[in-house]
Amino acid sequence: MARRRAGSGEASSGQRDPRNLAERNGGATRDRRRCDRHAVGLINLQFRDDHVATLAYRVFPASRGQGFASRAVRLVTSWAFRDIGLTSLLLEIDEANDASLKVAEKCQFGPVDTRTELASNGARHTTLVFARQRP
Ligand SMILES: CC(C)(COP(=O)(O)OP(=O)(O)OC[C@H]1O[C@@H](n2cnc3c(N)ncnc32)[C@H](O)[C@@H]1OP(=O)(O)O)[C@@H](O)C(=O)NCCC(=O)NCCS
Repeated sequence: MARRRAGSGEASSGQRDPRNLAERNGGATRDRRRCDRHAVGLINLQFRDDHVATLAYRVFPASRGQGFASRAVRLVTSWAFRDIGLTSLLLEIDEANDASLKVAEKCQFGPVDTRTELASNGARHTTLVFARQRP
């Protein structure tokens, strides 16, 4: 299986206003007008093959709830479909991760699979897989 990494991106904000995030740079989002180089999170693509990748993201606790994750996922999704030729993006989300499930819904990813694994302590761990196809 071919694998490539697109590199991690940082999302930065001047006034922590997601409406200011306007510039893409290889998956990174930066505030073009008021960038103070203050990172608010990370986003990256994990390639499954030349056409399919899993999108992973994290917003640092102090910056959550301001729309950064949704904005970053939308920007990287557009870039991945338009500029690097991916045809499908995946999200893998713990079923208890309500914030990330909301991000998937807001960014128009649909459910495609469910994986349940048994941890060594016997606990069940369920991951929901979502996908979005290139339009
Ligand atoms: C998941 C995560 C990336 C969301 O980042 P964020 O920037 O706070 O997300 P957004 O601000 O774009 O919010 C997305 C939506 O989720 C909602 N939301 C946020 N926290 C929530 C919670 N605990 N329960 C339910 N909904 C929640 C927001 O209200 C928003 O919906 P709205 O626009 O309709 O109000 C962030 O919580 C995080 O980094 N968590 C730890 C790492 C992680 O889980 N990464 C994803 C792995 S798949």
